[in-house]
Amino acid sequence: MAENDQQAFLEEYLEKGKHLVEDLQQKLGRKPTCSVITFGCQMNARDSEKLRGVLLAMGYEDLGENEEADFVVYNTCTVRDNANQRVYGRLGGLQGYKKKNPHMRIALCGCMMQEEEVIEKIKKSYRFVDLIFGTHNLYTFPRLVCDMLESDRMIVSIWKEEKGIIEDLPVSRKYPFKSGVNIMFGCNNFCSYCIVPYVRGRERSRDAKDIIREIETLSAGGVKEVMLLGQNVNSYGNDLQGGLSFPQLLQEVEKVEGIERIRFMSSHPKDLSDELIDVMANSSKICRHMHLAMQSGSTRILEKMNRRYTKEQYLGLVKKLRDRIPDIAITTDIIVGFPGEELSDVQETIDAVKTAAFDNAFTFIYSIRSNTPAAAMEQVPEEIKKKHFDMVLAAVQETARSMADRFTGRTMDVLAEQVNEQDSSLLTGRLSNNTTVHFPGDPSLIGQILPVKLTECKGFYYLGERV
Ligand code: SAM
Ligand code: SF4
Ligand code: F3S
Repeated sequence: MAENDQQAFLEEYLEKGKHLVEDLQQKLGRKPTCSVITFGCQMNARDSEKLRGVLLAMGYEDLGENEEADFVVYNTCTVRDNANQRVYGRLGGLQGYKKKNPHMRIALCGCMMQEEEVIEKIKKSYRFVDLIFGTHNLYTFPRLVCDMLESDRMIVSIWKEEKGIIEDLPVSRKYPFKSGVNIMFGCNNFCSYCIVPYVRGRERSRDAKDIIREIETLSAGGVKEVMLLGQNVNSYGNDLQGGLSFPQLLQEVEKVEGIERIRFMSSHPKDLSDELIDVMANSSKICRHMHLAMQSGSTRILEKMNRRYTKEQYLGLVKKLRDRIPDIAITTDIIVGFPGEELSDVQETIDAVKTAAFDNAFTFIYSIRSNTPAAAMEQVPEEIKKKHFDMVLAAVQETARSMADRFTGRTMDVLAEQVNEQDSSLLTGRLSNNTTVHFPGDPSLIGQILPVKLTECKGFYYLGERV
């Protein structure tokens, strides 16, 4: 669709939606409410901001995460089976709310909806769902909401692939001072355990000029921190003719006035270039944090996972990062229990965890995803997976704890993000390296970057004082 046609399409259905929501308001005698509930990663969280933006533009009132709203949207994840089970579990509860509120509407979207067997199951066992759509047609949401409000039947609209990248959906963000920015969609890596390339499609990079324009607009609206989002940001631009590389894009983002912090995720080790490390080391805005999924410390398992690097290459990158950027925090993802994994592989992983000295790690038990290559490999018994998982977790916790207090006594910049949830005399914010800090402060400081002395380390967070 040409840019003007996109805009006209969007406006037509936002306008129509406004009228339909007004009609609903007449029937209810109050403003209709909505709730968008997100499962999964930052990519989904960003999509949810767009869904919420559309609903607010149509006149719904946002209830936050509240399943008693008149319109509840579940933006789902399918990366591991427990993500799916959580959705099914909560869906059961929604039927009760719908019985009490006959005007209630329920929509399901996100990665799970790109799986045929999921759609079949919902059609059969969850007939009360009103609207189902997938990851590739998120931008048709304004039209789908209109269709849903005018229909009594379940609407199912799933596309196998995206038809171009659509810009400019309205957005409603949680924090006024920070924002995610999609720089690319999809993934080409086909790690053998992972379902993401099947449900999010092939890599599509956004034009650098659209990204920069979005960041300039965000900055003009008061945003200080941007998080550039993609499944593998290091391959940004590979699909564009003569476009910028990721390090070049970072340098352009750095030029945007008013942006003080730049984050990004995720990075794939196979594409992490020396140029990127240089750009980070020389930057005053790019945050001192690298999330670099290792997945396993065993080269044998990494090969079966189709990760395309060895244990030594991975540890080499970690060393380079720590040598060039001494304050950097390195975090990772690890999968335990991949098909064929033996005790000796787990020991390799534990050794890599200790050598890399991760500041933090998300450790997952391998979960079979249908139609991925690893699903057909010989599986590790559940009780062995669990035993190995506990071993890796213990190593991760030990190194993270020993890394955590290395900044105690230093004064570092903290972006004040919110009032502390337990103690309202404290503010909660983040260091450039993403560690949480709690410190006494007034809510008027939220959104500011402040120097804070880190007085005490409490495991995974600091207590501090403004200086
Ligand atoms: N693209 C990112 C990368 O490669 O760094 C990761 C995206 S994925 C949404 C987040 C993490 O989920 C992965 O790094 C991996 O550790 C984990 N994961 C993916 N598939 C999994 C599976 N089948 N079982 C367990 N964990 C899985
Ligand atoms: Fe999944 Fe691998 Fe792509 Fe990450 S890089 S989303 S783990 S296939
Ligand atoms: Fe889940 Fe989809 Fe993200 S499967 S982790 S929400 S890309």
